[in-house]
Amino acid sequence: MADLATEPDPGPEPAPAHGELGPPLVELRGVDKHFGALHVLKHIDLTVARGEVVVIIGPSGSGKSTLCRTINRLETIDSGSIVIDGRELPEEGRELARLRAEVGMVFQSFNLFAHRTVLENVTLGPIKAKGVKKSDAVARARELLDRVGVGNQAAKLPAQLSGGQQQRVAIARALAMGPKVMLFDEPTSALDPEMINEVLDVMVGLARDGMTMLVVTHEMGFARRAANRVVFMDAGEIVEQADPETFFTAPRSERARDFLSKILTH
Ligand SMILES: Nc1ncnc2c1ncn2[C@@H]1O[C@H](COP(=O)(O)OP(=O)(O)OP(=O)(O)O)[C@@H](O)[C@H]1O
Ligand SMILES: [Mg+2]
Repeated sequence: MADLATEPDPGPEPAPAHGELGPPLVELRGVDKHFGALHVLKHIDLTVARGEVVVIIGPSGSGKSTLCRTINRLETIDSGSIVIDGRELPEEGRELARLRAEVGMVFQSFNLFAHRTVLENVTLGPIKAKGVKKSDAVARARELLDRVGVGNQAAKLPAQLSGGQQQRVAIARALAMGPKVMLFDEPTSALDPEMINEVLDVMVGLARDGMTMLVVTHEMGFARRAANRVVFMDAGEIVEQADPETFFTAPRSERARDFLSKILTH
């Protein structure tokens, strides 16, 4: 880890203005993944452009989380390729550590360090994995905590925050690493209803600022407000994809229609 600190940090590239999509940032080609006999990702082809916001939706067990987890190599793949910003996902080692820093991930369960303050949760990664000077990491963390609306909670422990506040800290923590793309896996599904919007608003803000995002969510309001594209998965396959309006109002496949009728009734 320590030698990462000596690598020059090129810094984030300027994001394209909202509405304009850049060149491919994440490219999955022919990705297959099995868990034993179970074929969980079936020849997935998916390209996410720089600045694009893609919502992934689909029934439980369709492979949405697994897809996200392969993109920062929390899961290995059996065949195919994953390229991030022009570089193939490395197997292991220093290159993999560097790539992980470029791919921020926010989970359903906030996964904050319970015995560290909110501020420490956000500064630890940059200090330990990127060799950022503590004072710089603290200044950046304070900026990010302000941006997600929890600047006044910096000295608290995670357990002293509401779920919505904890999830916003988790977003700030991921952003502190300077990711090129952010992956969200059902970031609001563990939250009480009144806290969902405060997290979605932060995500919409990020999208408007040009962050490239891949978001697993069934929040159609978010998809309509922020997504360029909705990708519908079922049984390990991408069944169809379209802009949110088209997908929600005129899904083409029987499987998508069936799924939407179920989520729309409650
Ligand atoms: N580590 C694992 N070992 C074995 N099987 C797994 C593992 N992780 C996931 N699976 C299986 O792979 C399939 C896809 O799981 P995945 O978690 O990607 O689905 P999902 O679309 O995210 O579902 P949900 O909406 O319930 O979160 C499921 O059948 C699941 O049981
Ligand atoms: Mg899942």
